[in-house]
Amino acid sequence: MGRVFEILNKGVFHKSELIELLLSSGDERALLLREGARLKKLYVDKITYFRGLVELSNICSKNCLYCGIRSGNSLVNRYSLSDEEVIESVKFAHKNHFASVVLQSGEISSKKFTSRIADLLAKINNETNSELGITLSLGEQSYETYKLWRECGAKRYLLRIESSNKELYHKIHPNDTKHNYEKRIECLHNLKELGYQVGTGVMVGLPFQTIEHLAEDLMFMKTFDIDMCGMGPYLEHHDTPLYQYKDELLPQKERFDLTLKMIAILRIMMKDINIAATTAMQAIDKLGREKALMIGANVIMPNVTPGVYRSEYHLYENKPCIDEEAEDCISCLEARIAIAGDTIGLDEHGDSRHYARRIGRR
Ligand code: 5AD
Ligand code: SF4
Ligand code: FES
Repeated sequence: MGRVFEILNKGVFHKSELIELLLSSGDERALLLREGARLKKLYVDKITYFRGLVELSNICSKNCLYCGIRSGNSLVNRYSLSDEEVIESVKFAHKNHFASVVLQSGEISSKKFTSRIADLLAKINNETNSELGITLSLGEQSYETYKLWRECGAKRYLLRIESSNKELYHKIHPNDTKHNYEKRIECLHNLKELGYQVGTGVMVGLPFQTIEHLAEDLMFMKTFDIDMCGMGPYLEHHDTPLYQYKDELLPQKERFDLTLKMIAILRIMMKDINIAATTAMQAIDKLGREKALMIGANVIMPNVTPGVYRSEYHLYENKPCIDEEAEDCISCLEARIAIAGDTIGLDEHGDSRHYARRIGRR
């Protein structure tokens, strides 16, 4: 009897067990991934939910050392969609039965931005009969801003912790007050308090990151009791400070494989949360997202941003679908979901079941 079998049977996931699972290979690794697949089917069904991703703007006041659209990268053409373009993208998602959208942008904190988003939330609800589940992914904001957006109809918020290890967090961000680990944690707590479905996540294969760090990340997500997760492999980007460590990274295939294991383990630890098959996985492996859906992930975020802007939202290299329009991605994705053996949860919000349970027991 192998160790993975023993650990899964015991169902106790301390740091040392998590490390063993993350290091598993061959039949043991296959057993781990199969368990992720089994629990997905059992707890959240063989359904993939679509979230139409609108990349509102690549303007960002932050300077994260890994990110292609960091404020210090002067090579980026900055854009901001007009309200009309946002509404068009959202209506496209609605018309195609997505039932949910995600508004994402670089981090901007200003009164103007806060009220623009509040207005947009009202407009979106107006144009779609309030039929869409709206998720925001707009970075760190004040409690009041999160509160206003919640009152205007946002239901979910994605804010990745990037790494739950404080030291590593500070190694991959500039050393200034704008990039503060405690602030990030405080934001996550505020979002929870305000009744959002809260999503977080990490990058896998960062420079200086160890297996111990990844085990800690899993424990962090479990302890924080998150509702949703988005994790992807770290991908080096030429025009960022972390690029200098490119020769010290794990090979991309290994970063991908570790991400798969992270997803399967998280599904095993937190059975009824929503887990995204992220675009960064497809940047490494053409079937990356399908593989993630097969072993535990249940959400995919098709890009519905107008095609002309896609190449400018360049967080990392090899980002897929840059030359496609939203229509192209839909037919492509339908085939992909079928490969993964799932059906698409059309017209269903696909709220986190974990959230319903969490709120129910308050
Ligand atoms: N590689 C992978 N993911 C990245 N992100 C930003 N830059 C990179 C990169 N170089 C991710 C971060 C952020 C999300 C929007 O994109 O995790 O939270
Ligand atoms: Fe801005 Fe987000 Fe990129 Fe950081 S990761 S620079 S906050 S867009
Ligand atoms: Fe965009 Fe396949 S998902 S082209």
